Amino acid sequence: MIINEKKQFIPALNAEVRTVTLQNRKHTQVTVTNYGGIIMSIKTPDRRGNFAEIALGFNDVEDYLTEDYKNNCPYFGTAVGRYANRIEHGKFSIDGTDYQLNCNNGPNALHGGPGGFHQKIWEMETFKEPKRTGVILTLESKDMEEGYPGNLKIKMTYTLTFDNELVIDYEATTDKKTIVNLTNHSYFNLSSMQHDVLNHLMVLYADKFTPKDEYDIPTGEIVAVNDSPVDFLLPRLIGERIADVDGKGYDHNFVINGFEGDLNMGARLVDSSTGRSLEFYTTEPGFQVYTGNYLDGRFERDDIPFKENYGICFEAQKYPDSPNKPEFPSAELLPGETYRQTTVYKFGLAEQ
Ligand code: BGC
Repeated sequence: MIINEKKQFIPALNAEVRTVTLQNRKHTQVTVTNYGGIIMSIKTPDRRGNFAEIALGFNDVEDYLTEDYKNNCPYFGTAVGRYANRIEHGKFSIDGTDYQLNCNNGPNALHGGPGGFHQKIWEMETFKEPKRTGVILTLESKDMEEGYPGNLKIKMTYTLTFDNELVIDYEATTDKKTIVNLTNHSYFNLSSMQHDVLNHLMVLYADKFTPKDEYDIPTGEIVAVNDSPVDFLLPRLIGERIADVDGKGYDHNFVINGFEGDLNMGARLVDSSTGRSLEFYTTEPGFQVYTGNYLDGRFERDDIPFKENYGICFEAQKYPDSPNKPEFPSAELLPGETYRQTTVYKFGLAEQ
């Protein structure tokens, strides 16, 4: 059911923005806004039945609009597009035509560029069915916006089910050959921010990953995790070998096992202090695991600062820089085709 709906005129956007809170029979609550398609809040029970926040974000849409937030841009809970993750130097070509994207991450383009979908005002409508409630968000991205070819129409549906799943379905069509890679950038902390995520237990259903250079651009290789610090084939504490990974914590693209375009389980997370668990599924060939390495406590909700490693993202995706890596699954979308992607975050309690 929908337990709260709010409309608010925001002068900084010169627009009316909506927020909607969904609730299911297990009392899980999810709050979303049409600004950036942001999932602002997710509240689930712990093993004692206490409901608390498990996602990083803010209570007010205006808090996503401050200069400090926009400059720092952690993408709390946002929709990400047109191309999630990085494209080297923002350059790619389609059928011999070169394109240049707006770069916003050192020399590279990240998460659709500075004017990406994370800060667009989407159209939003709600729907209610007996076992599911949700919102449908739509957006039109113009030909050459941020440098991407083709008028792209995007439909993104957030559904909270009876079975405690938050399902995100994406669809997109274009009128010119383009590239598309849509994802969600929710950060989870199953302890409800009582501590960082380093003592969460994690399993990743990925035998392989894509190694990267110092700018986080894949080298093009696909390598077995093979007992390295990115090997989570058996449950391990996130913090156990985090100091041994290249760079600042986990920020890696994993190759999901069993990819054939259907839904596969990518990850399972358990916080033993509260008993909460999270399962992540996607139809995509890969997913980025990012452990909030650049959080520094400057943003907070309800007086709890989001410090380094206070959240973990599972970003379903094509591999980073796929448009420049012919050996990676293609991110191209042709006129007449429909891009489809489904991501599921399933909330629960771990068996003791
Ligand atoms: C990227 C990180 C980046 C973060 C921004 C993640 O998806 O992989 O490198 O810093 O988004 O919040």
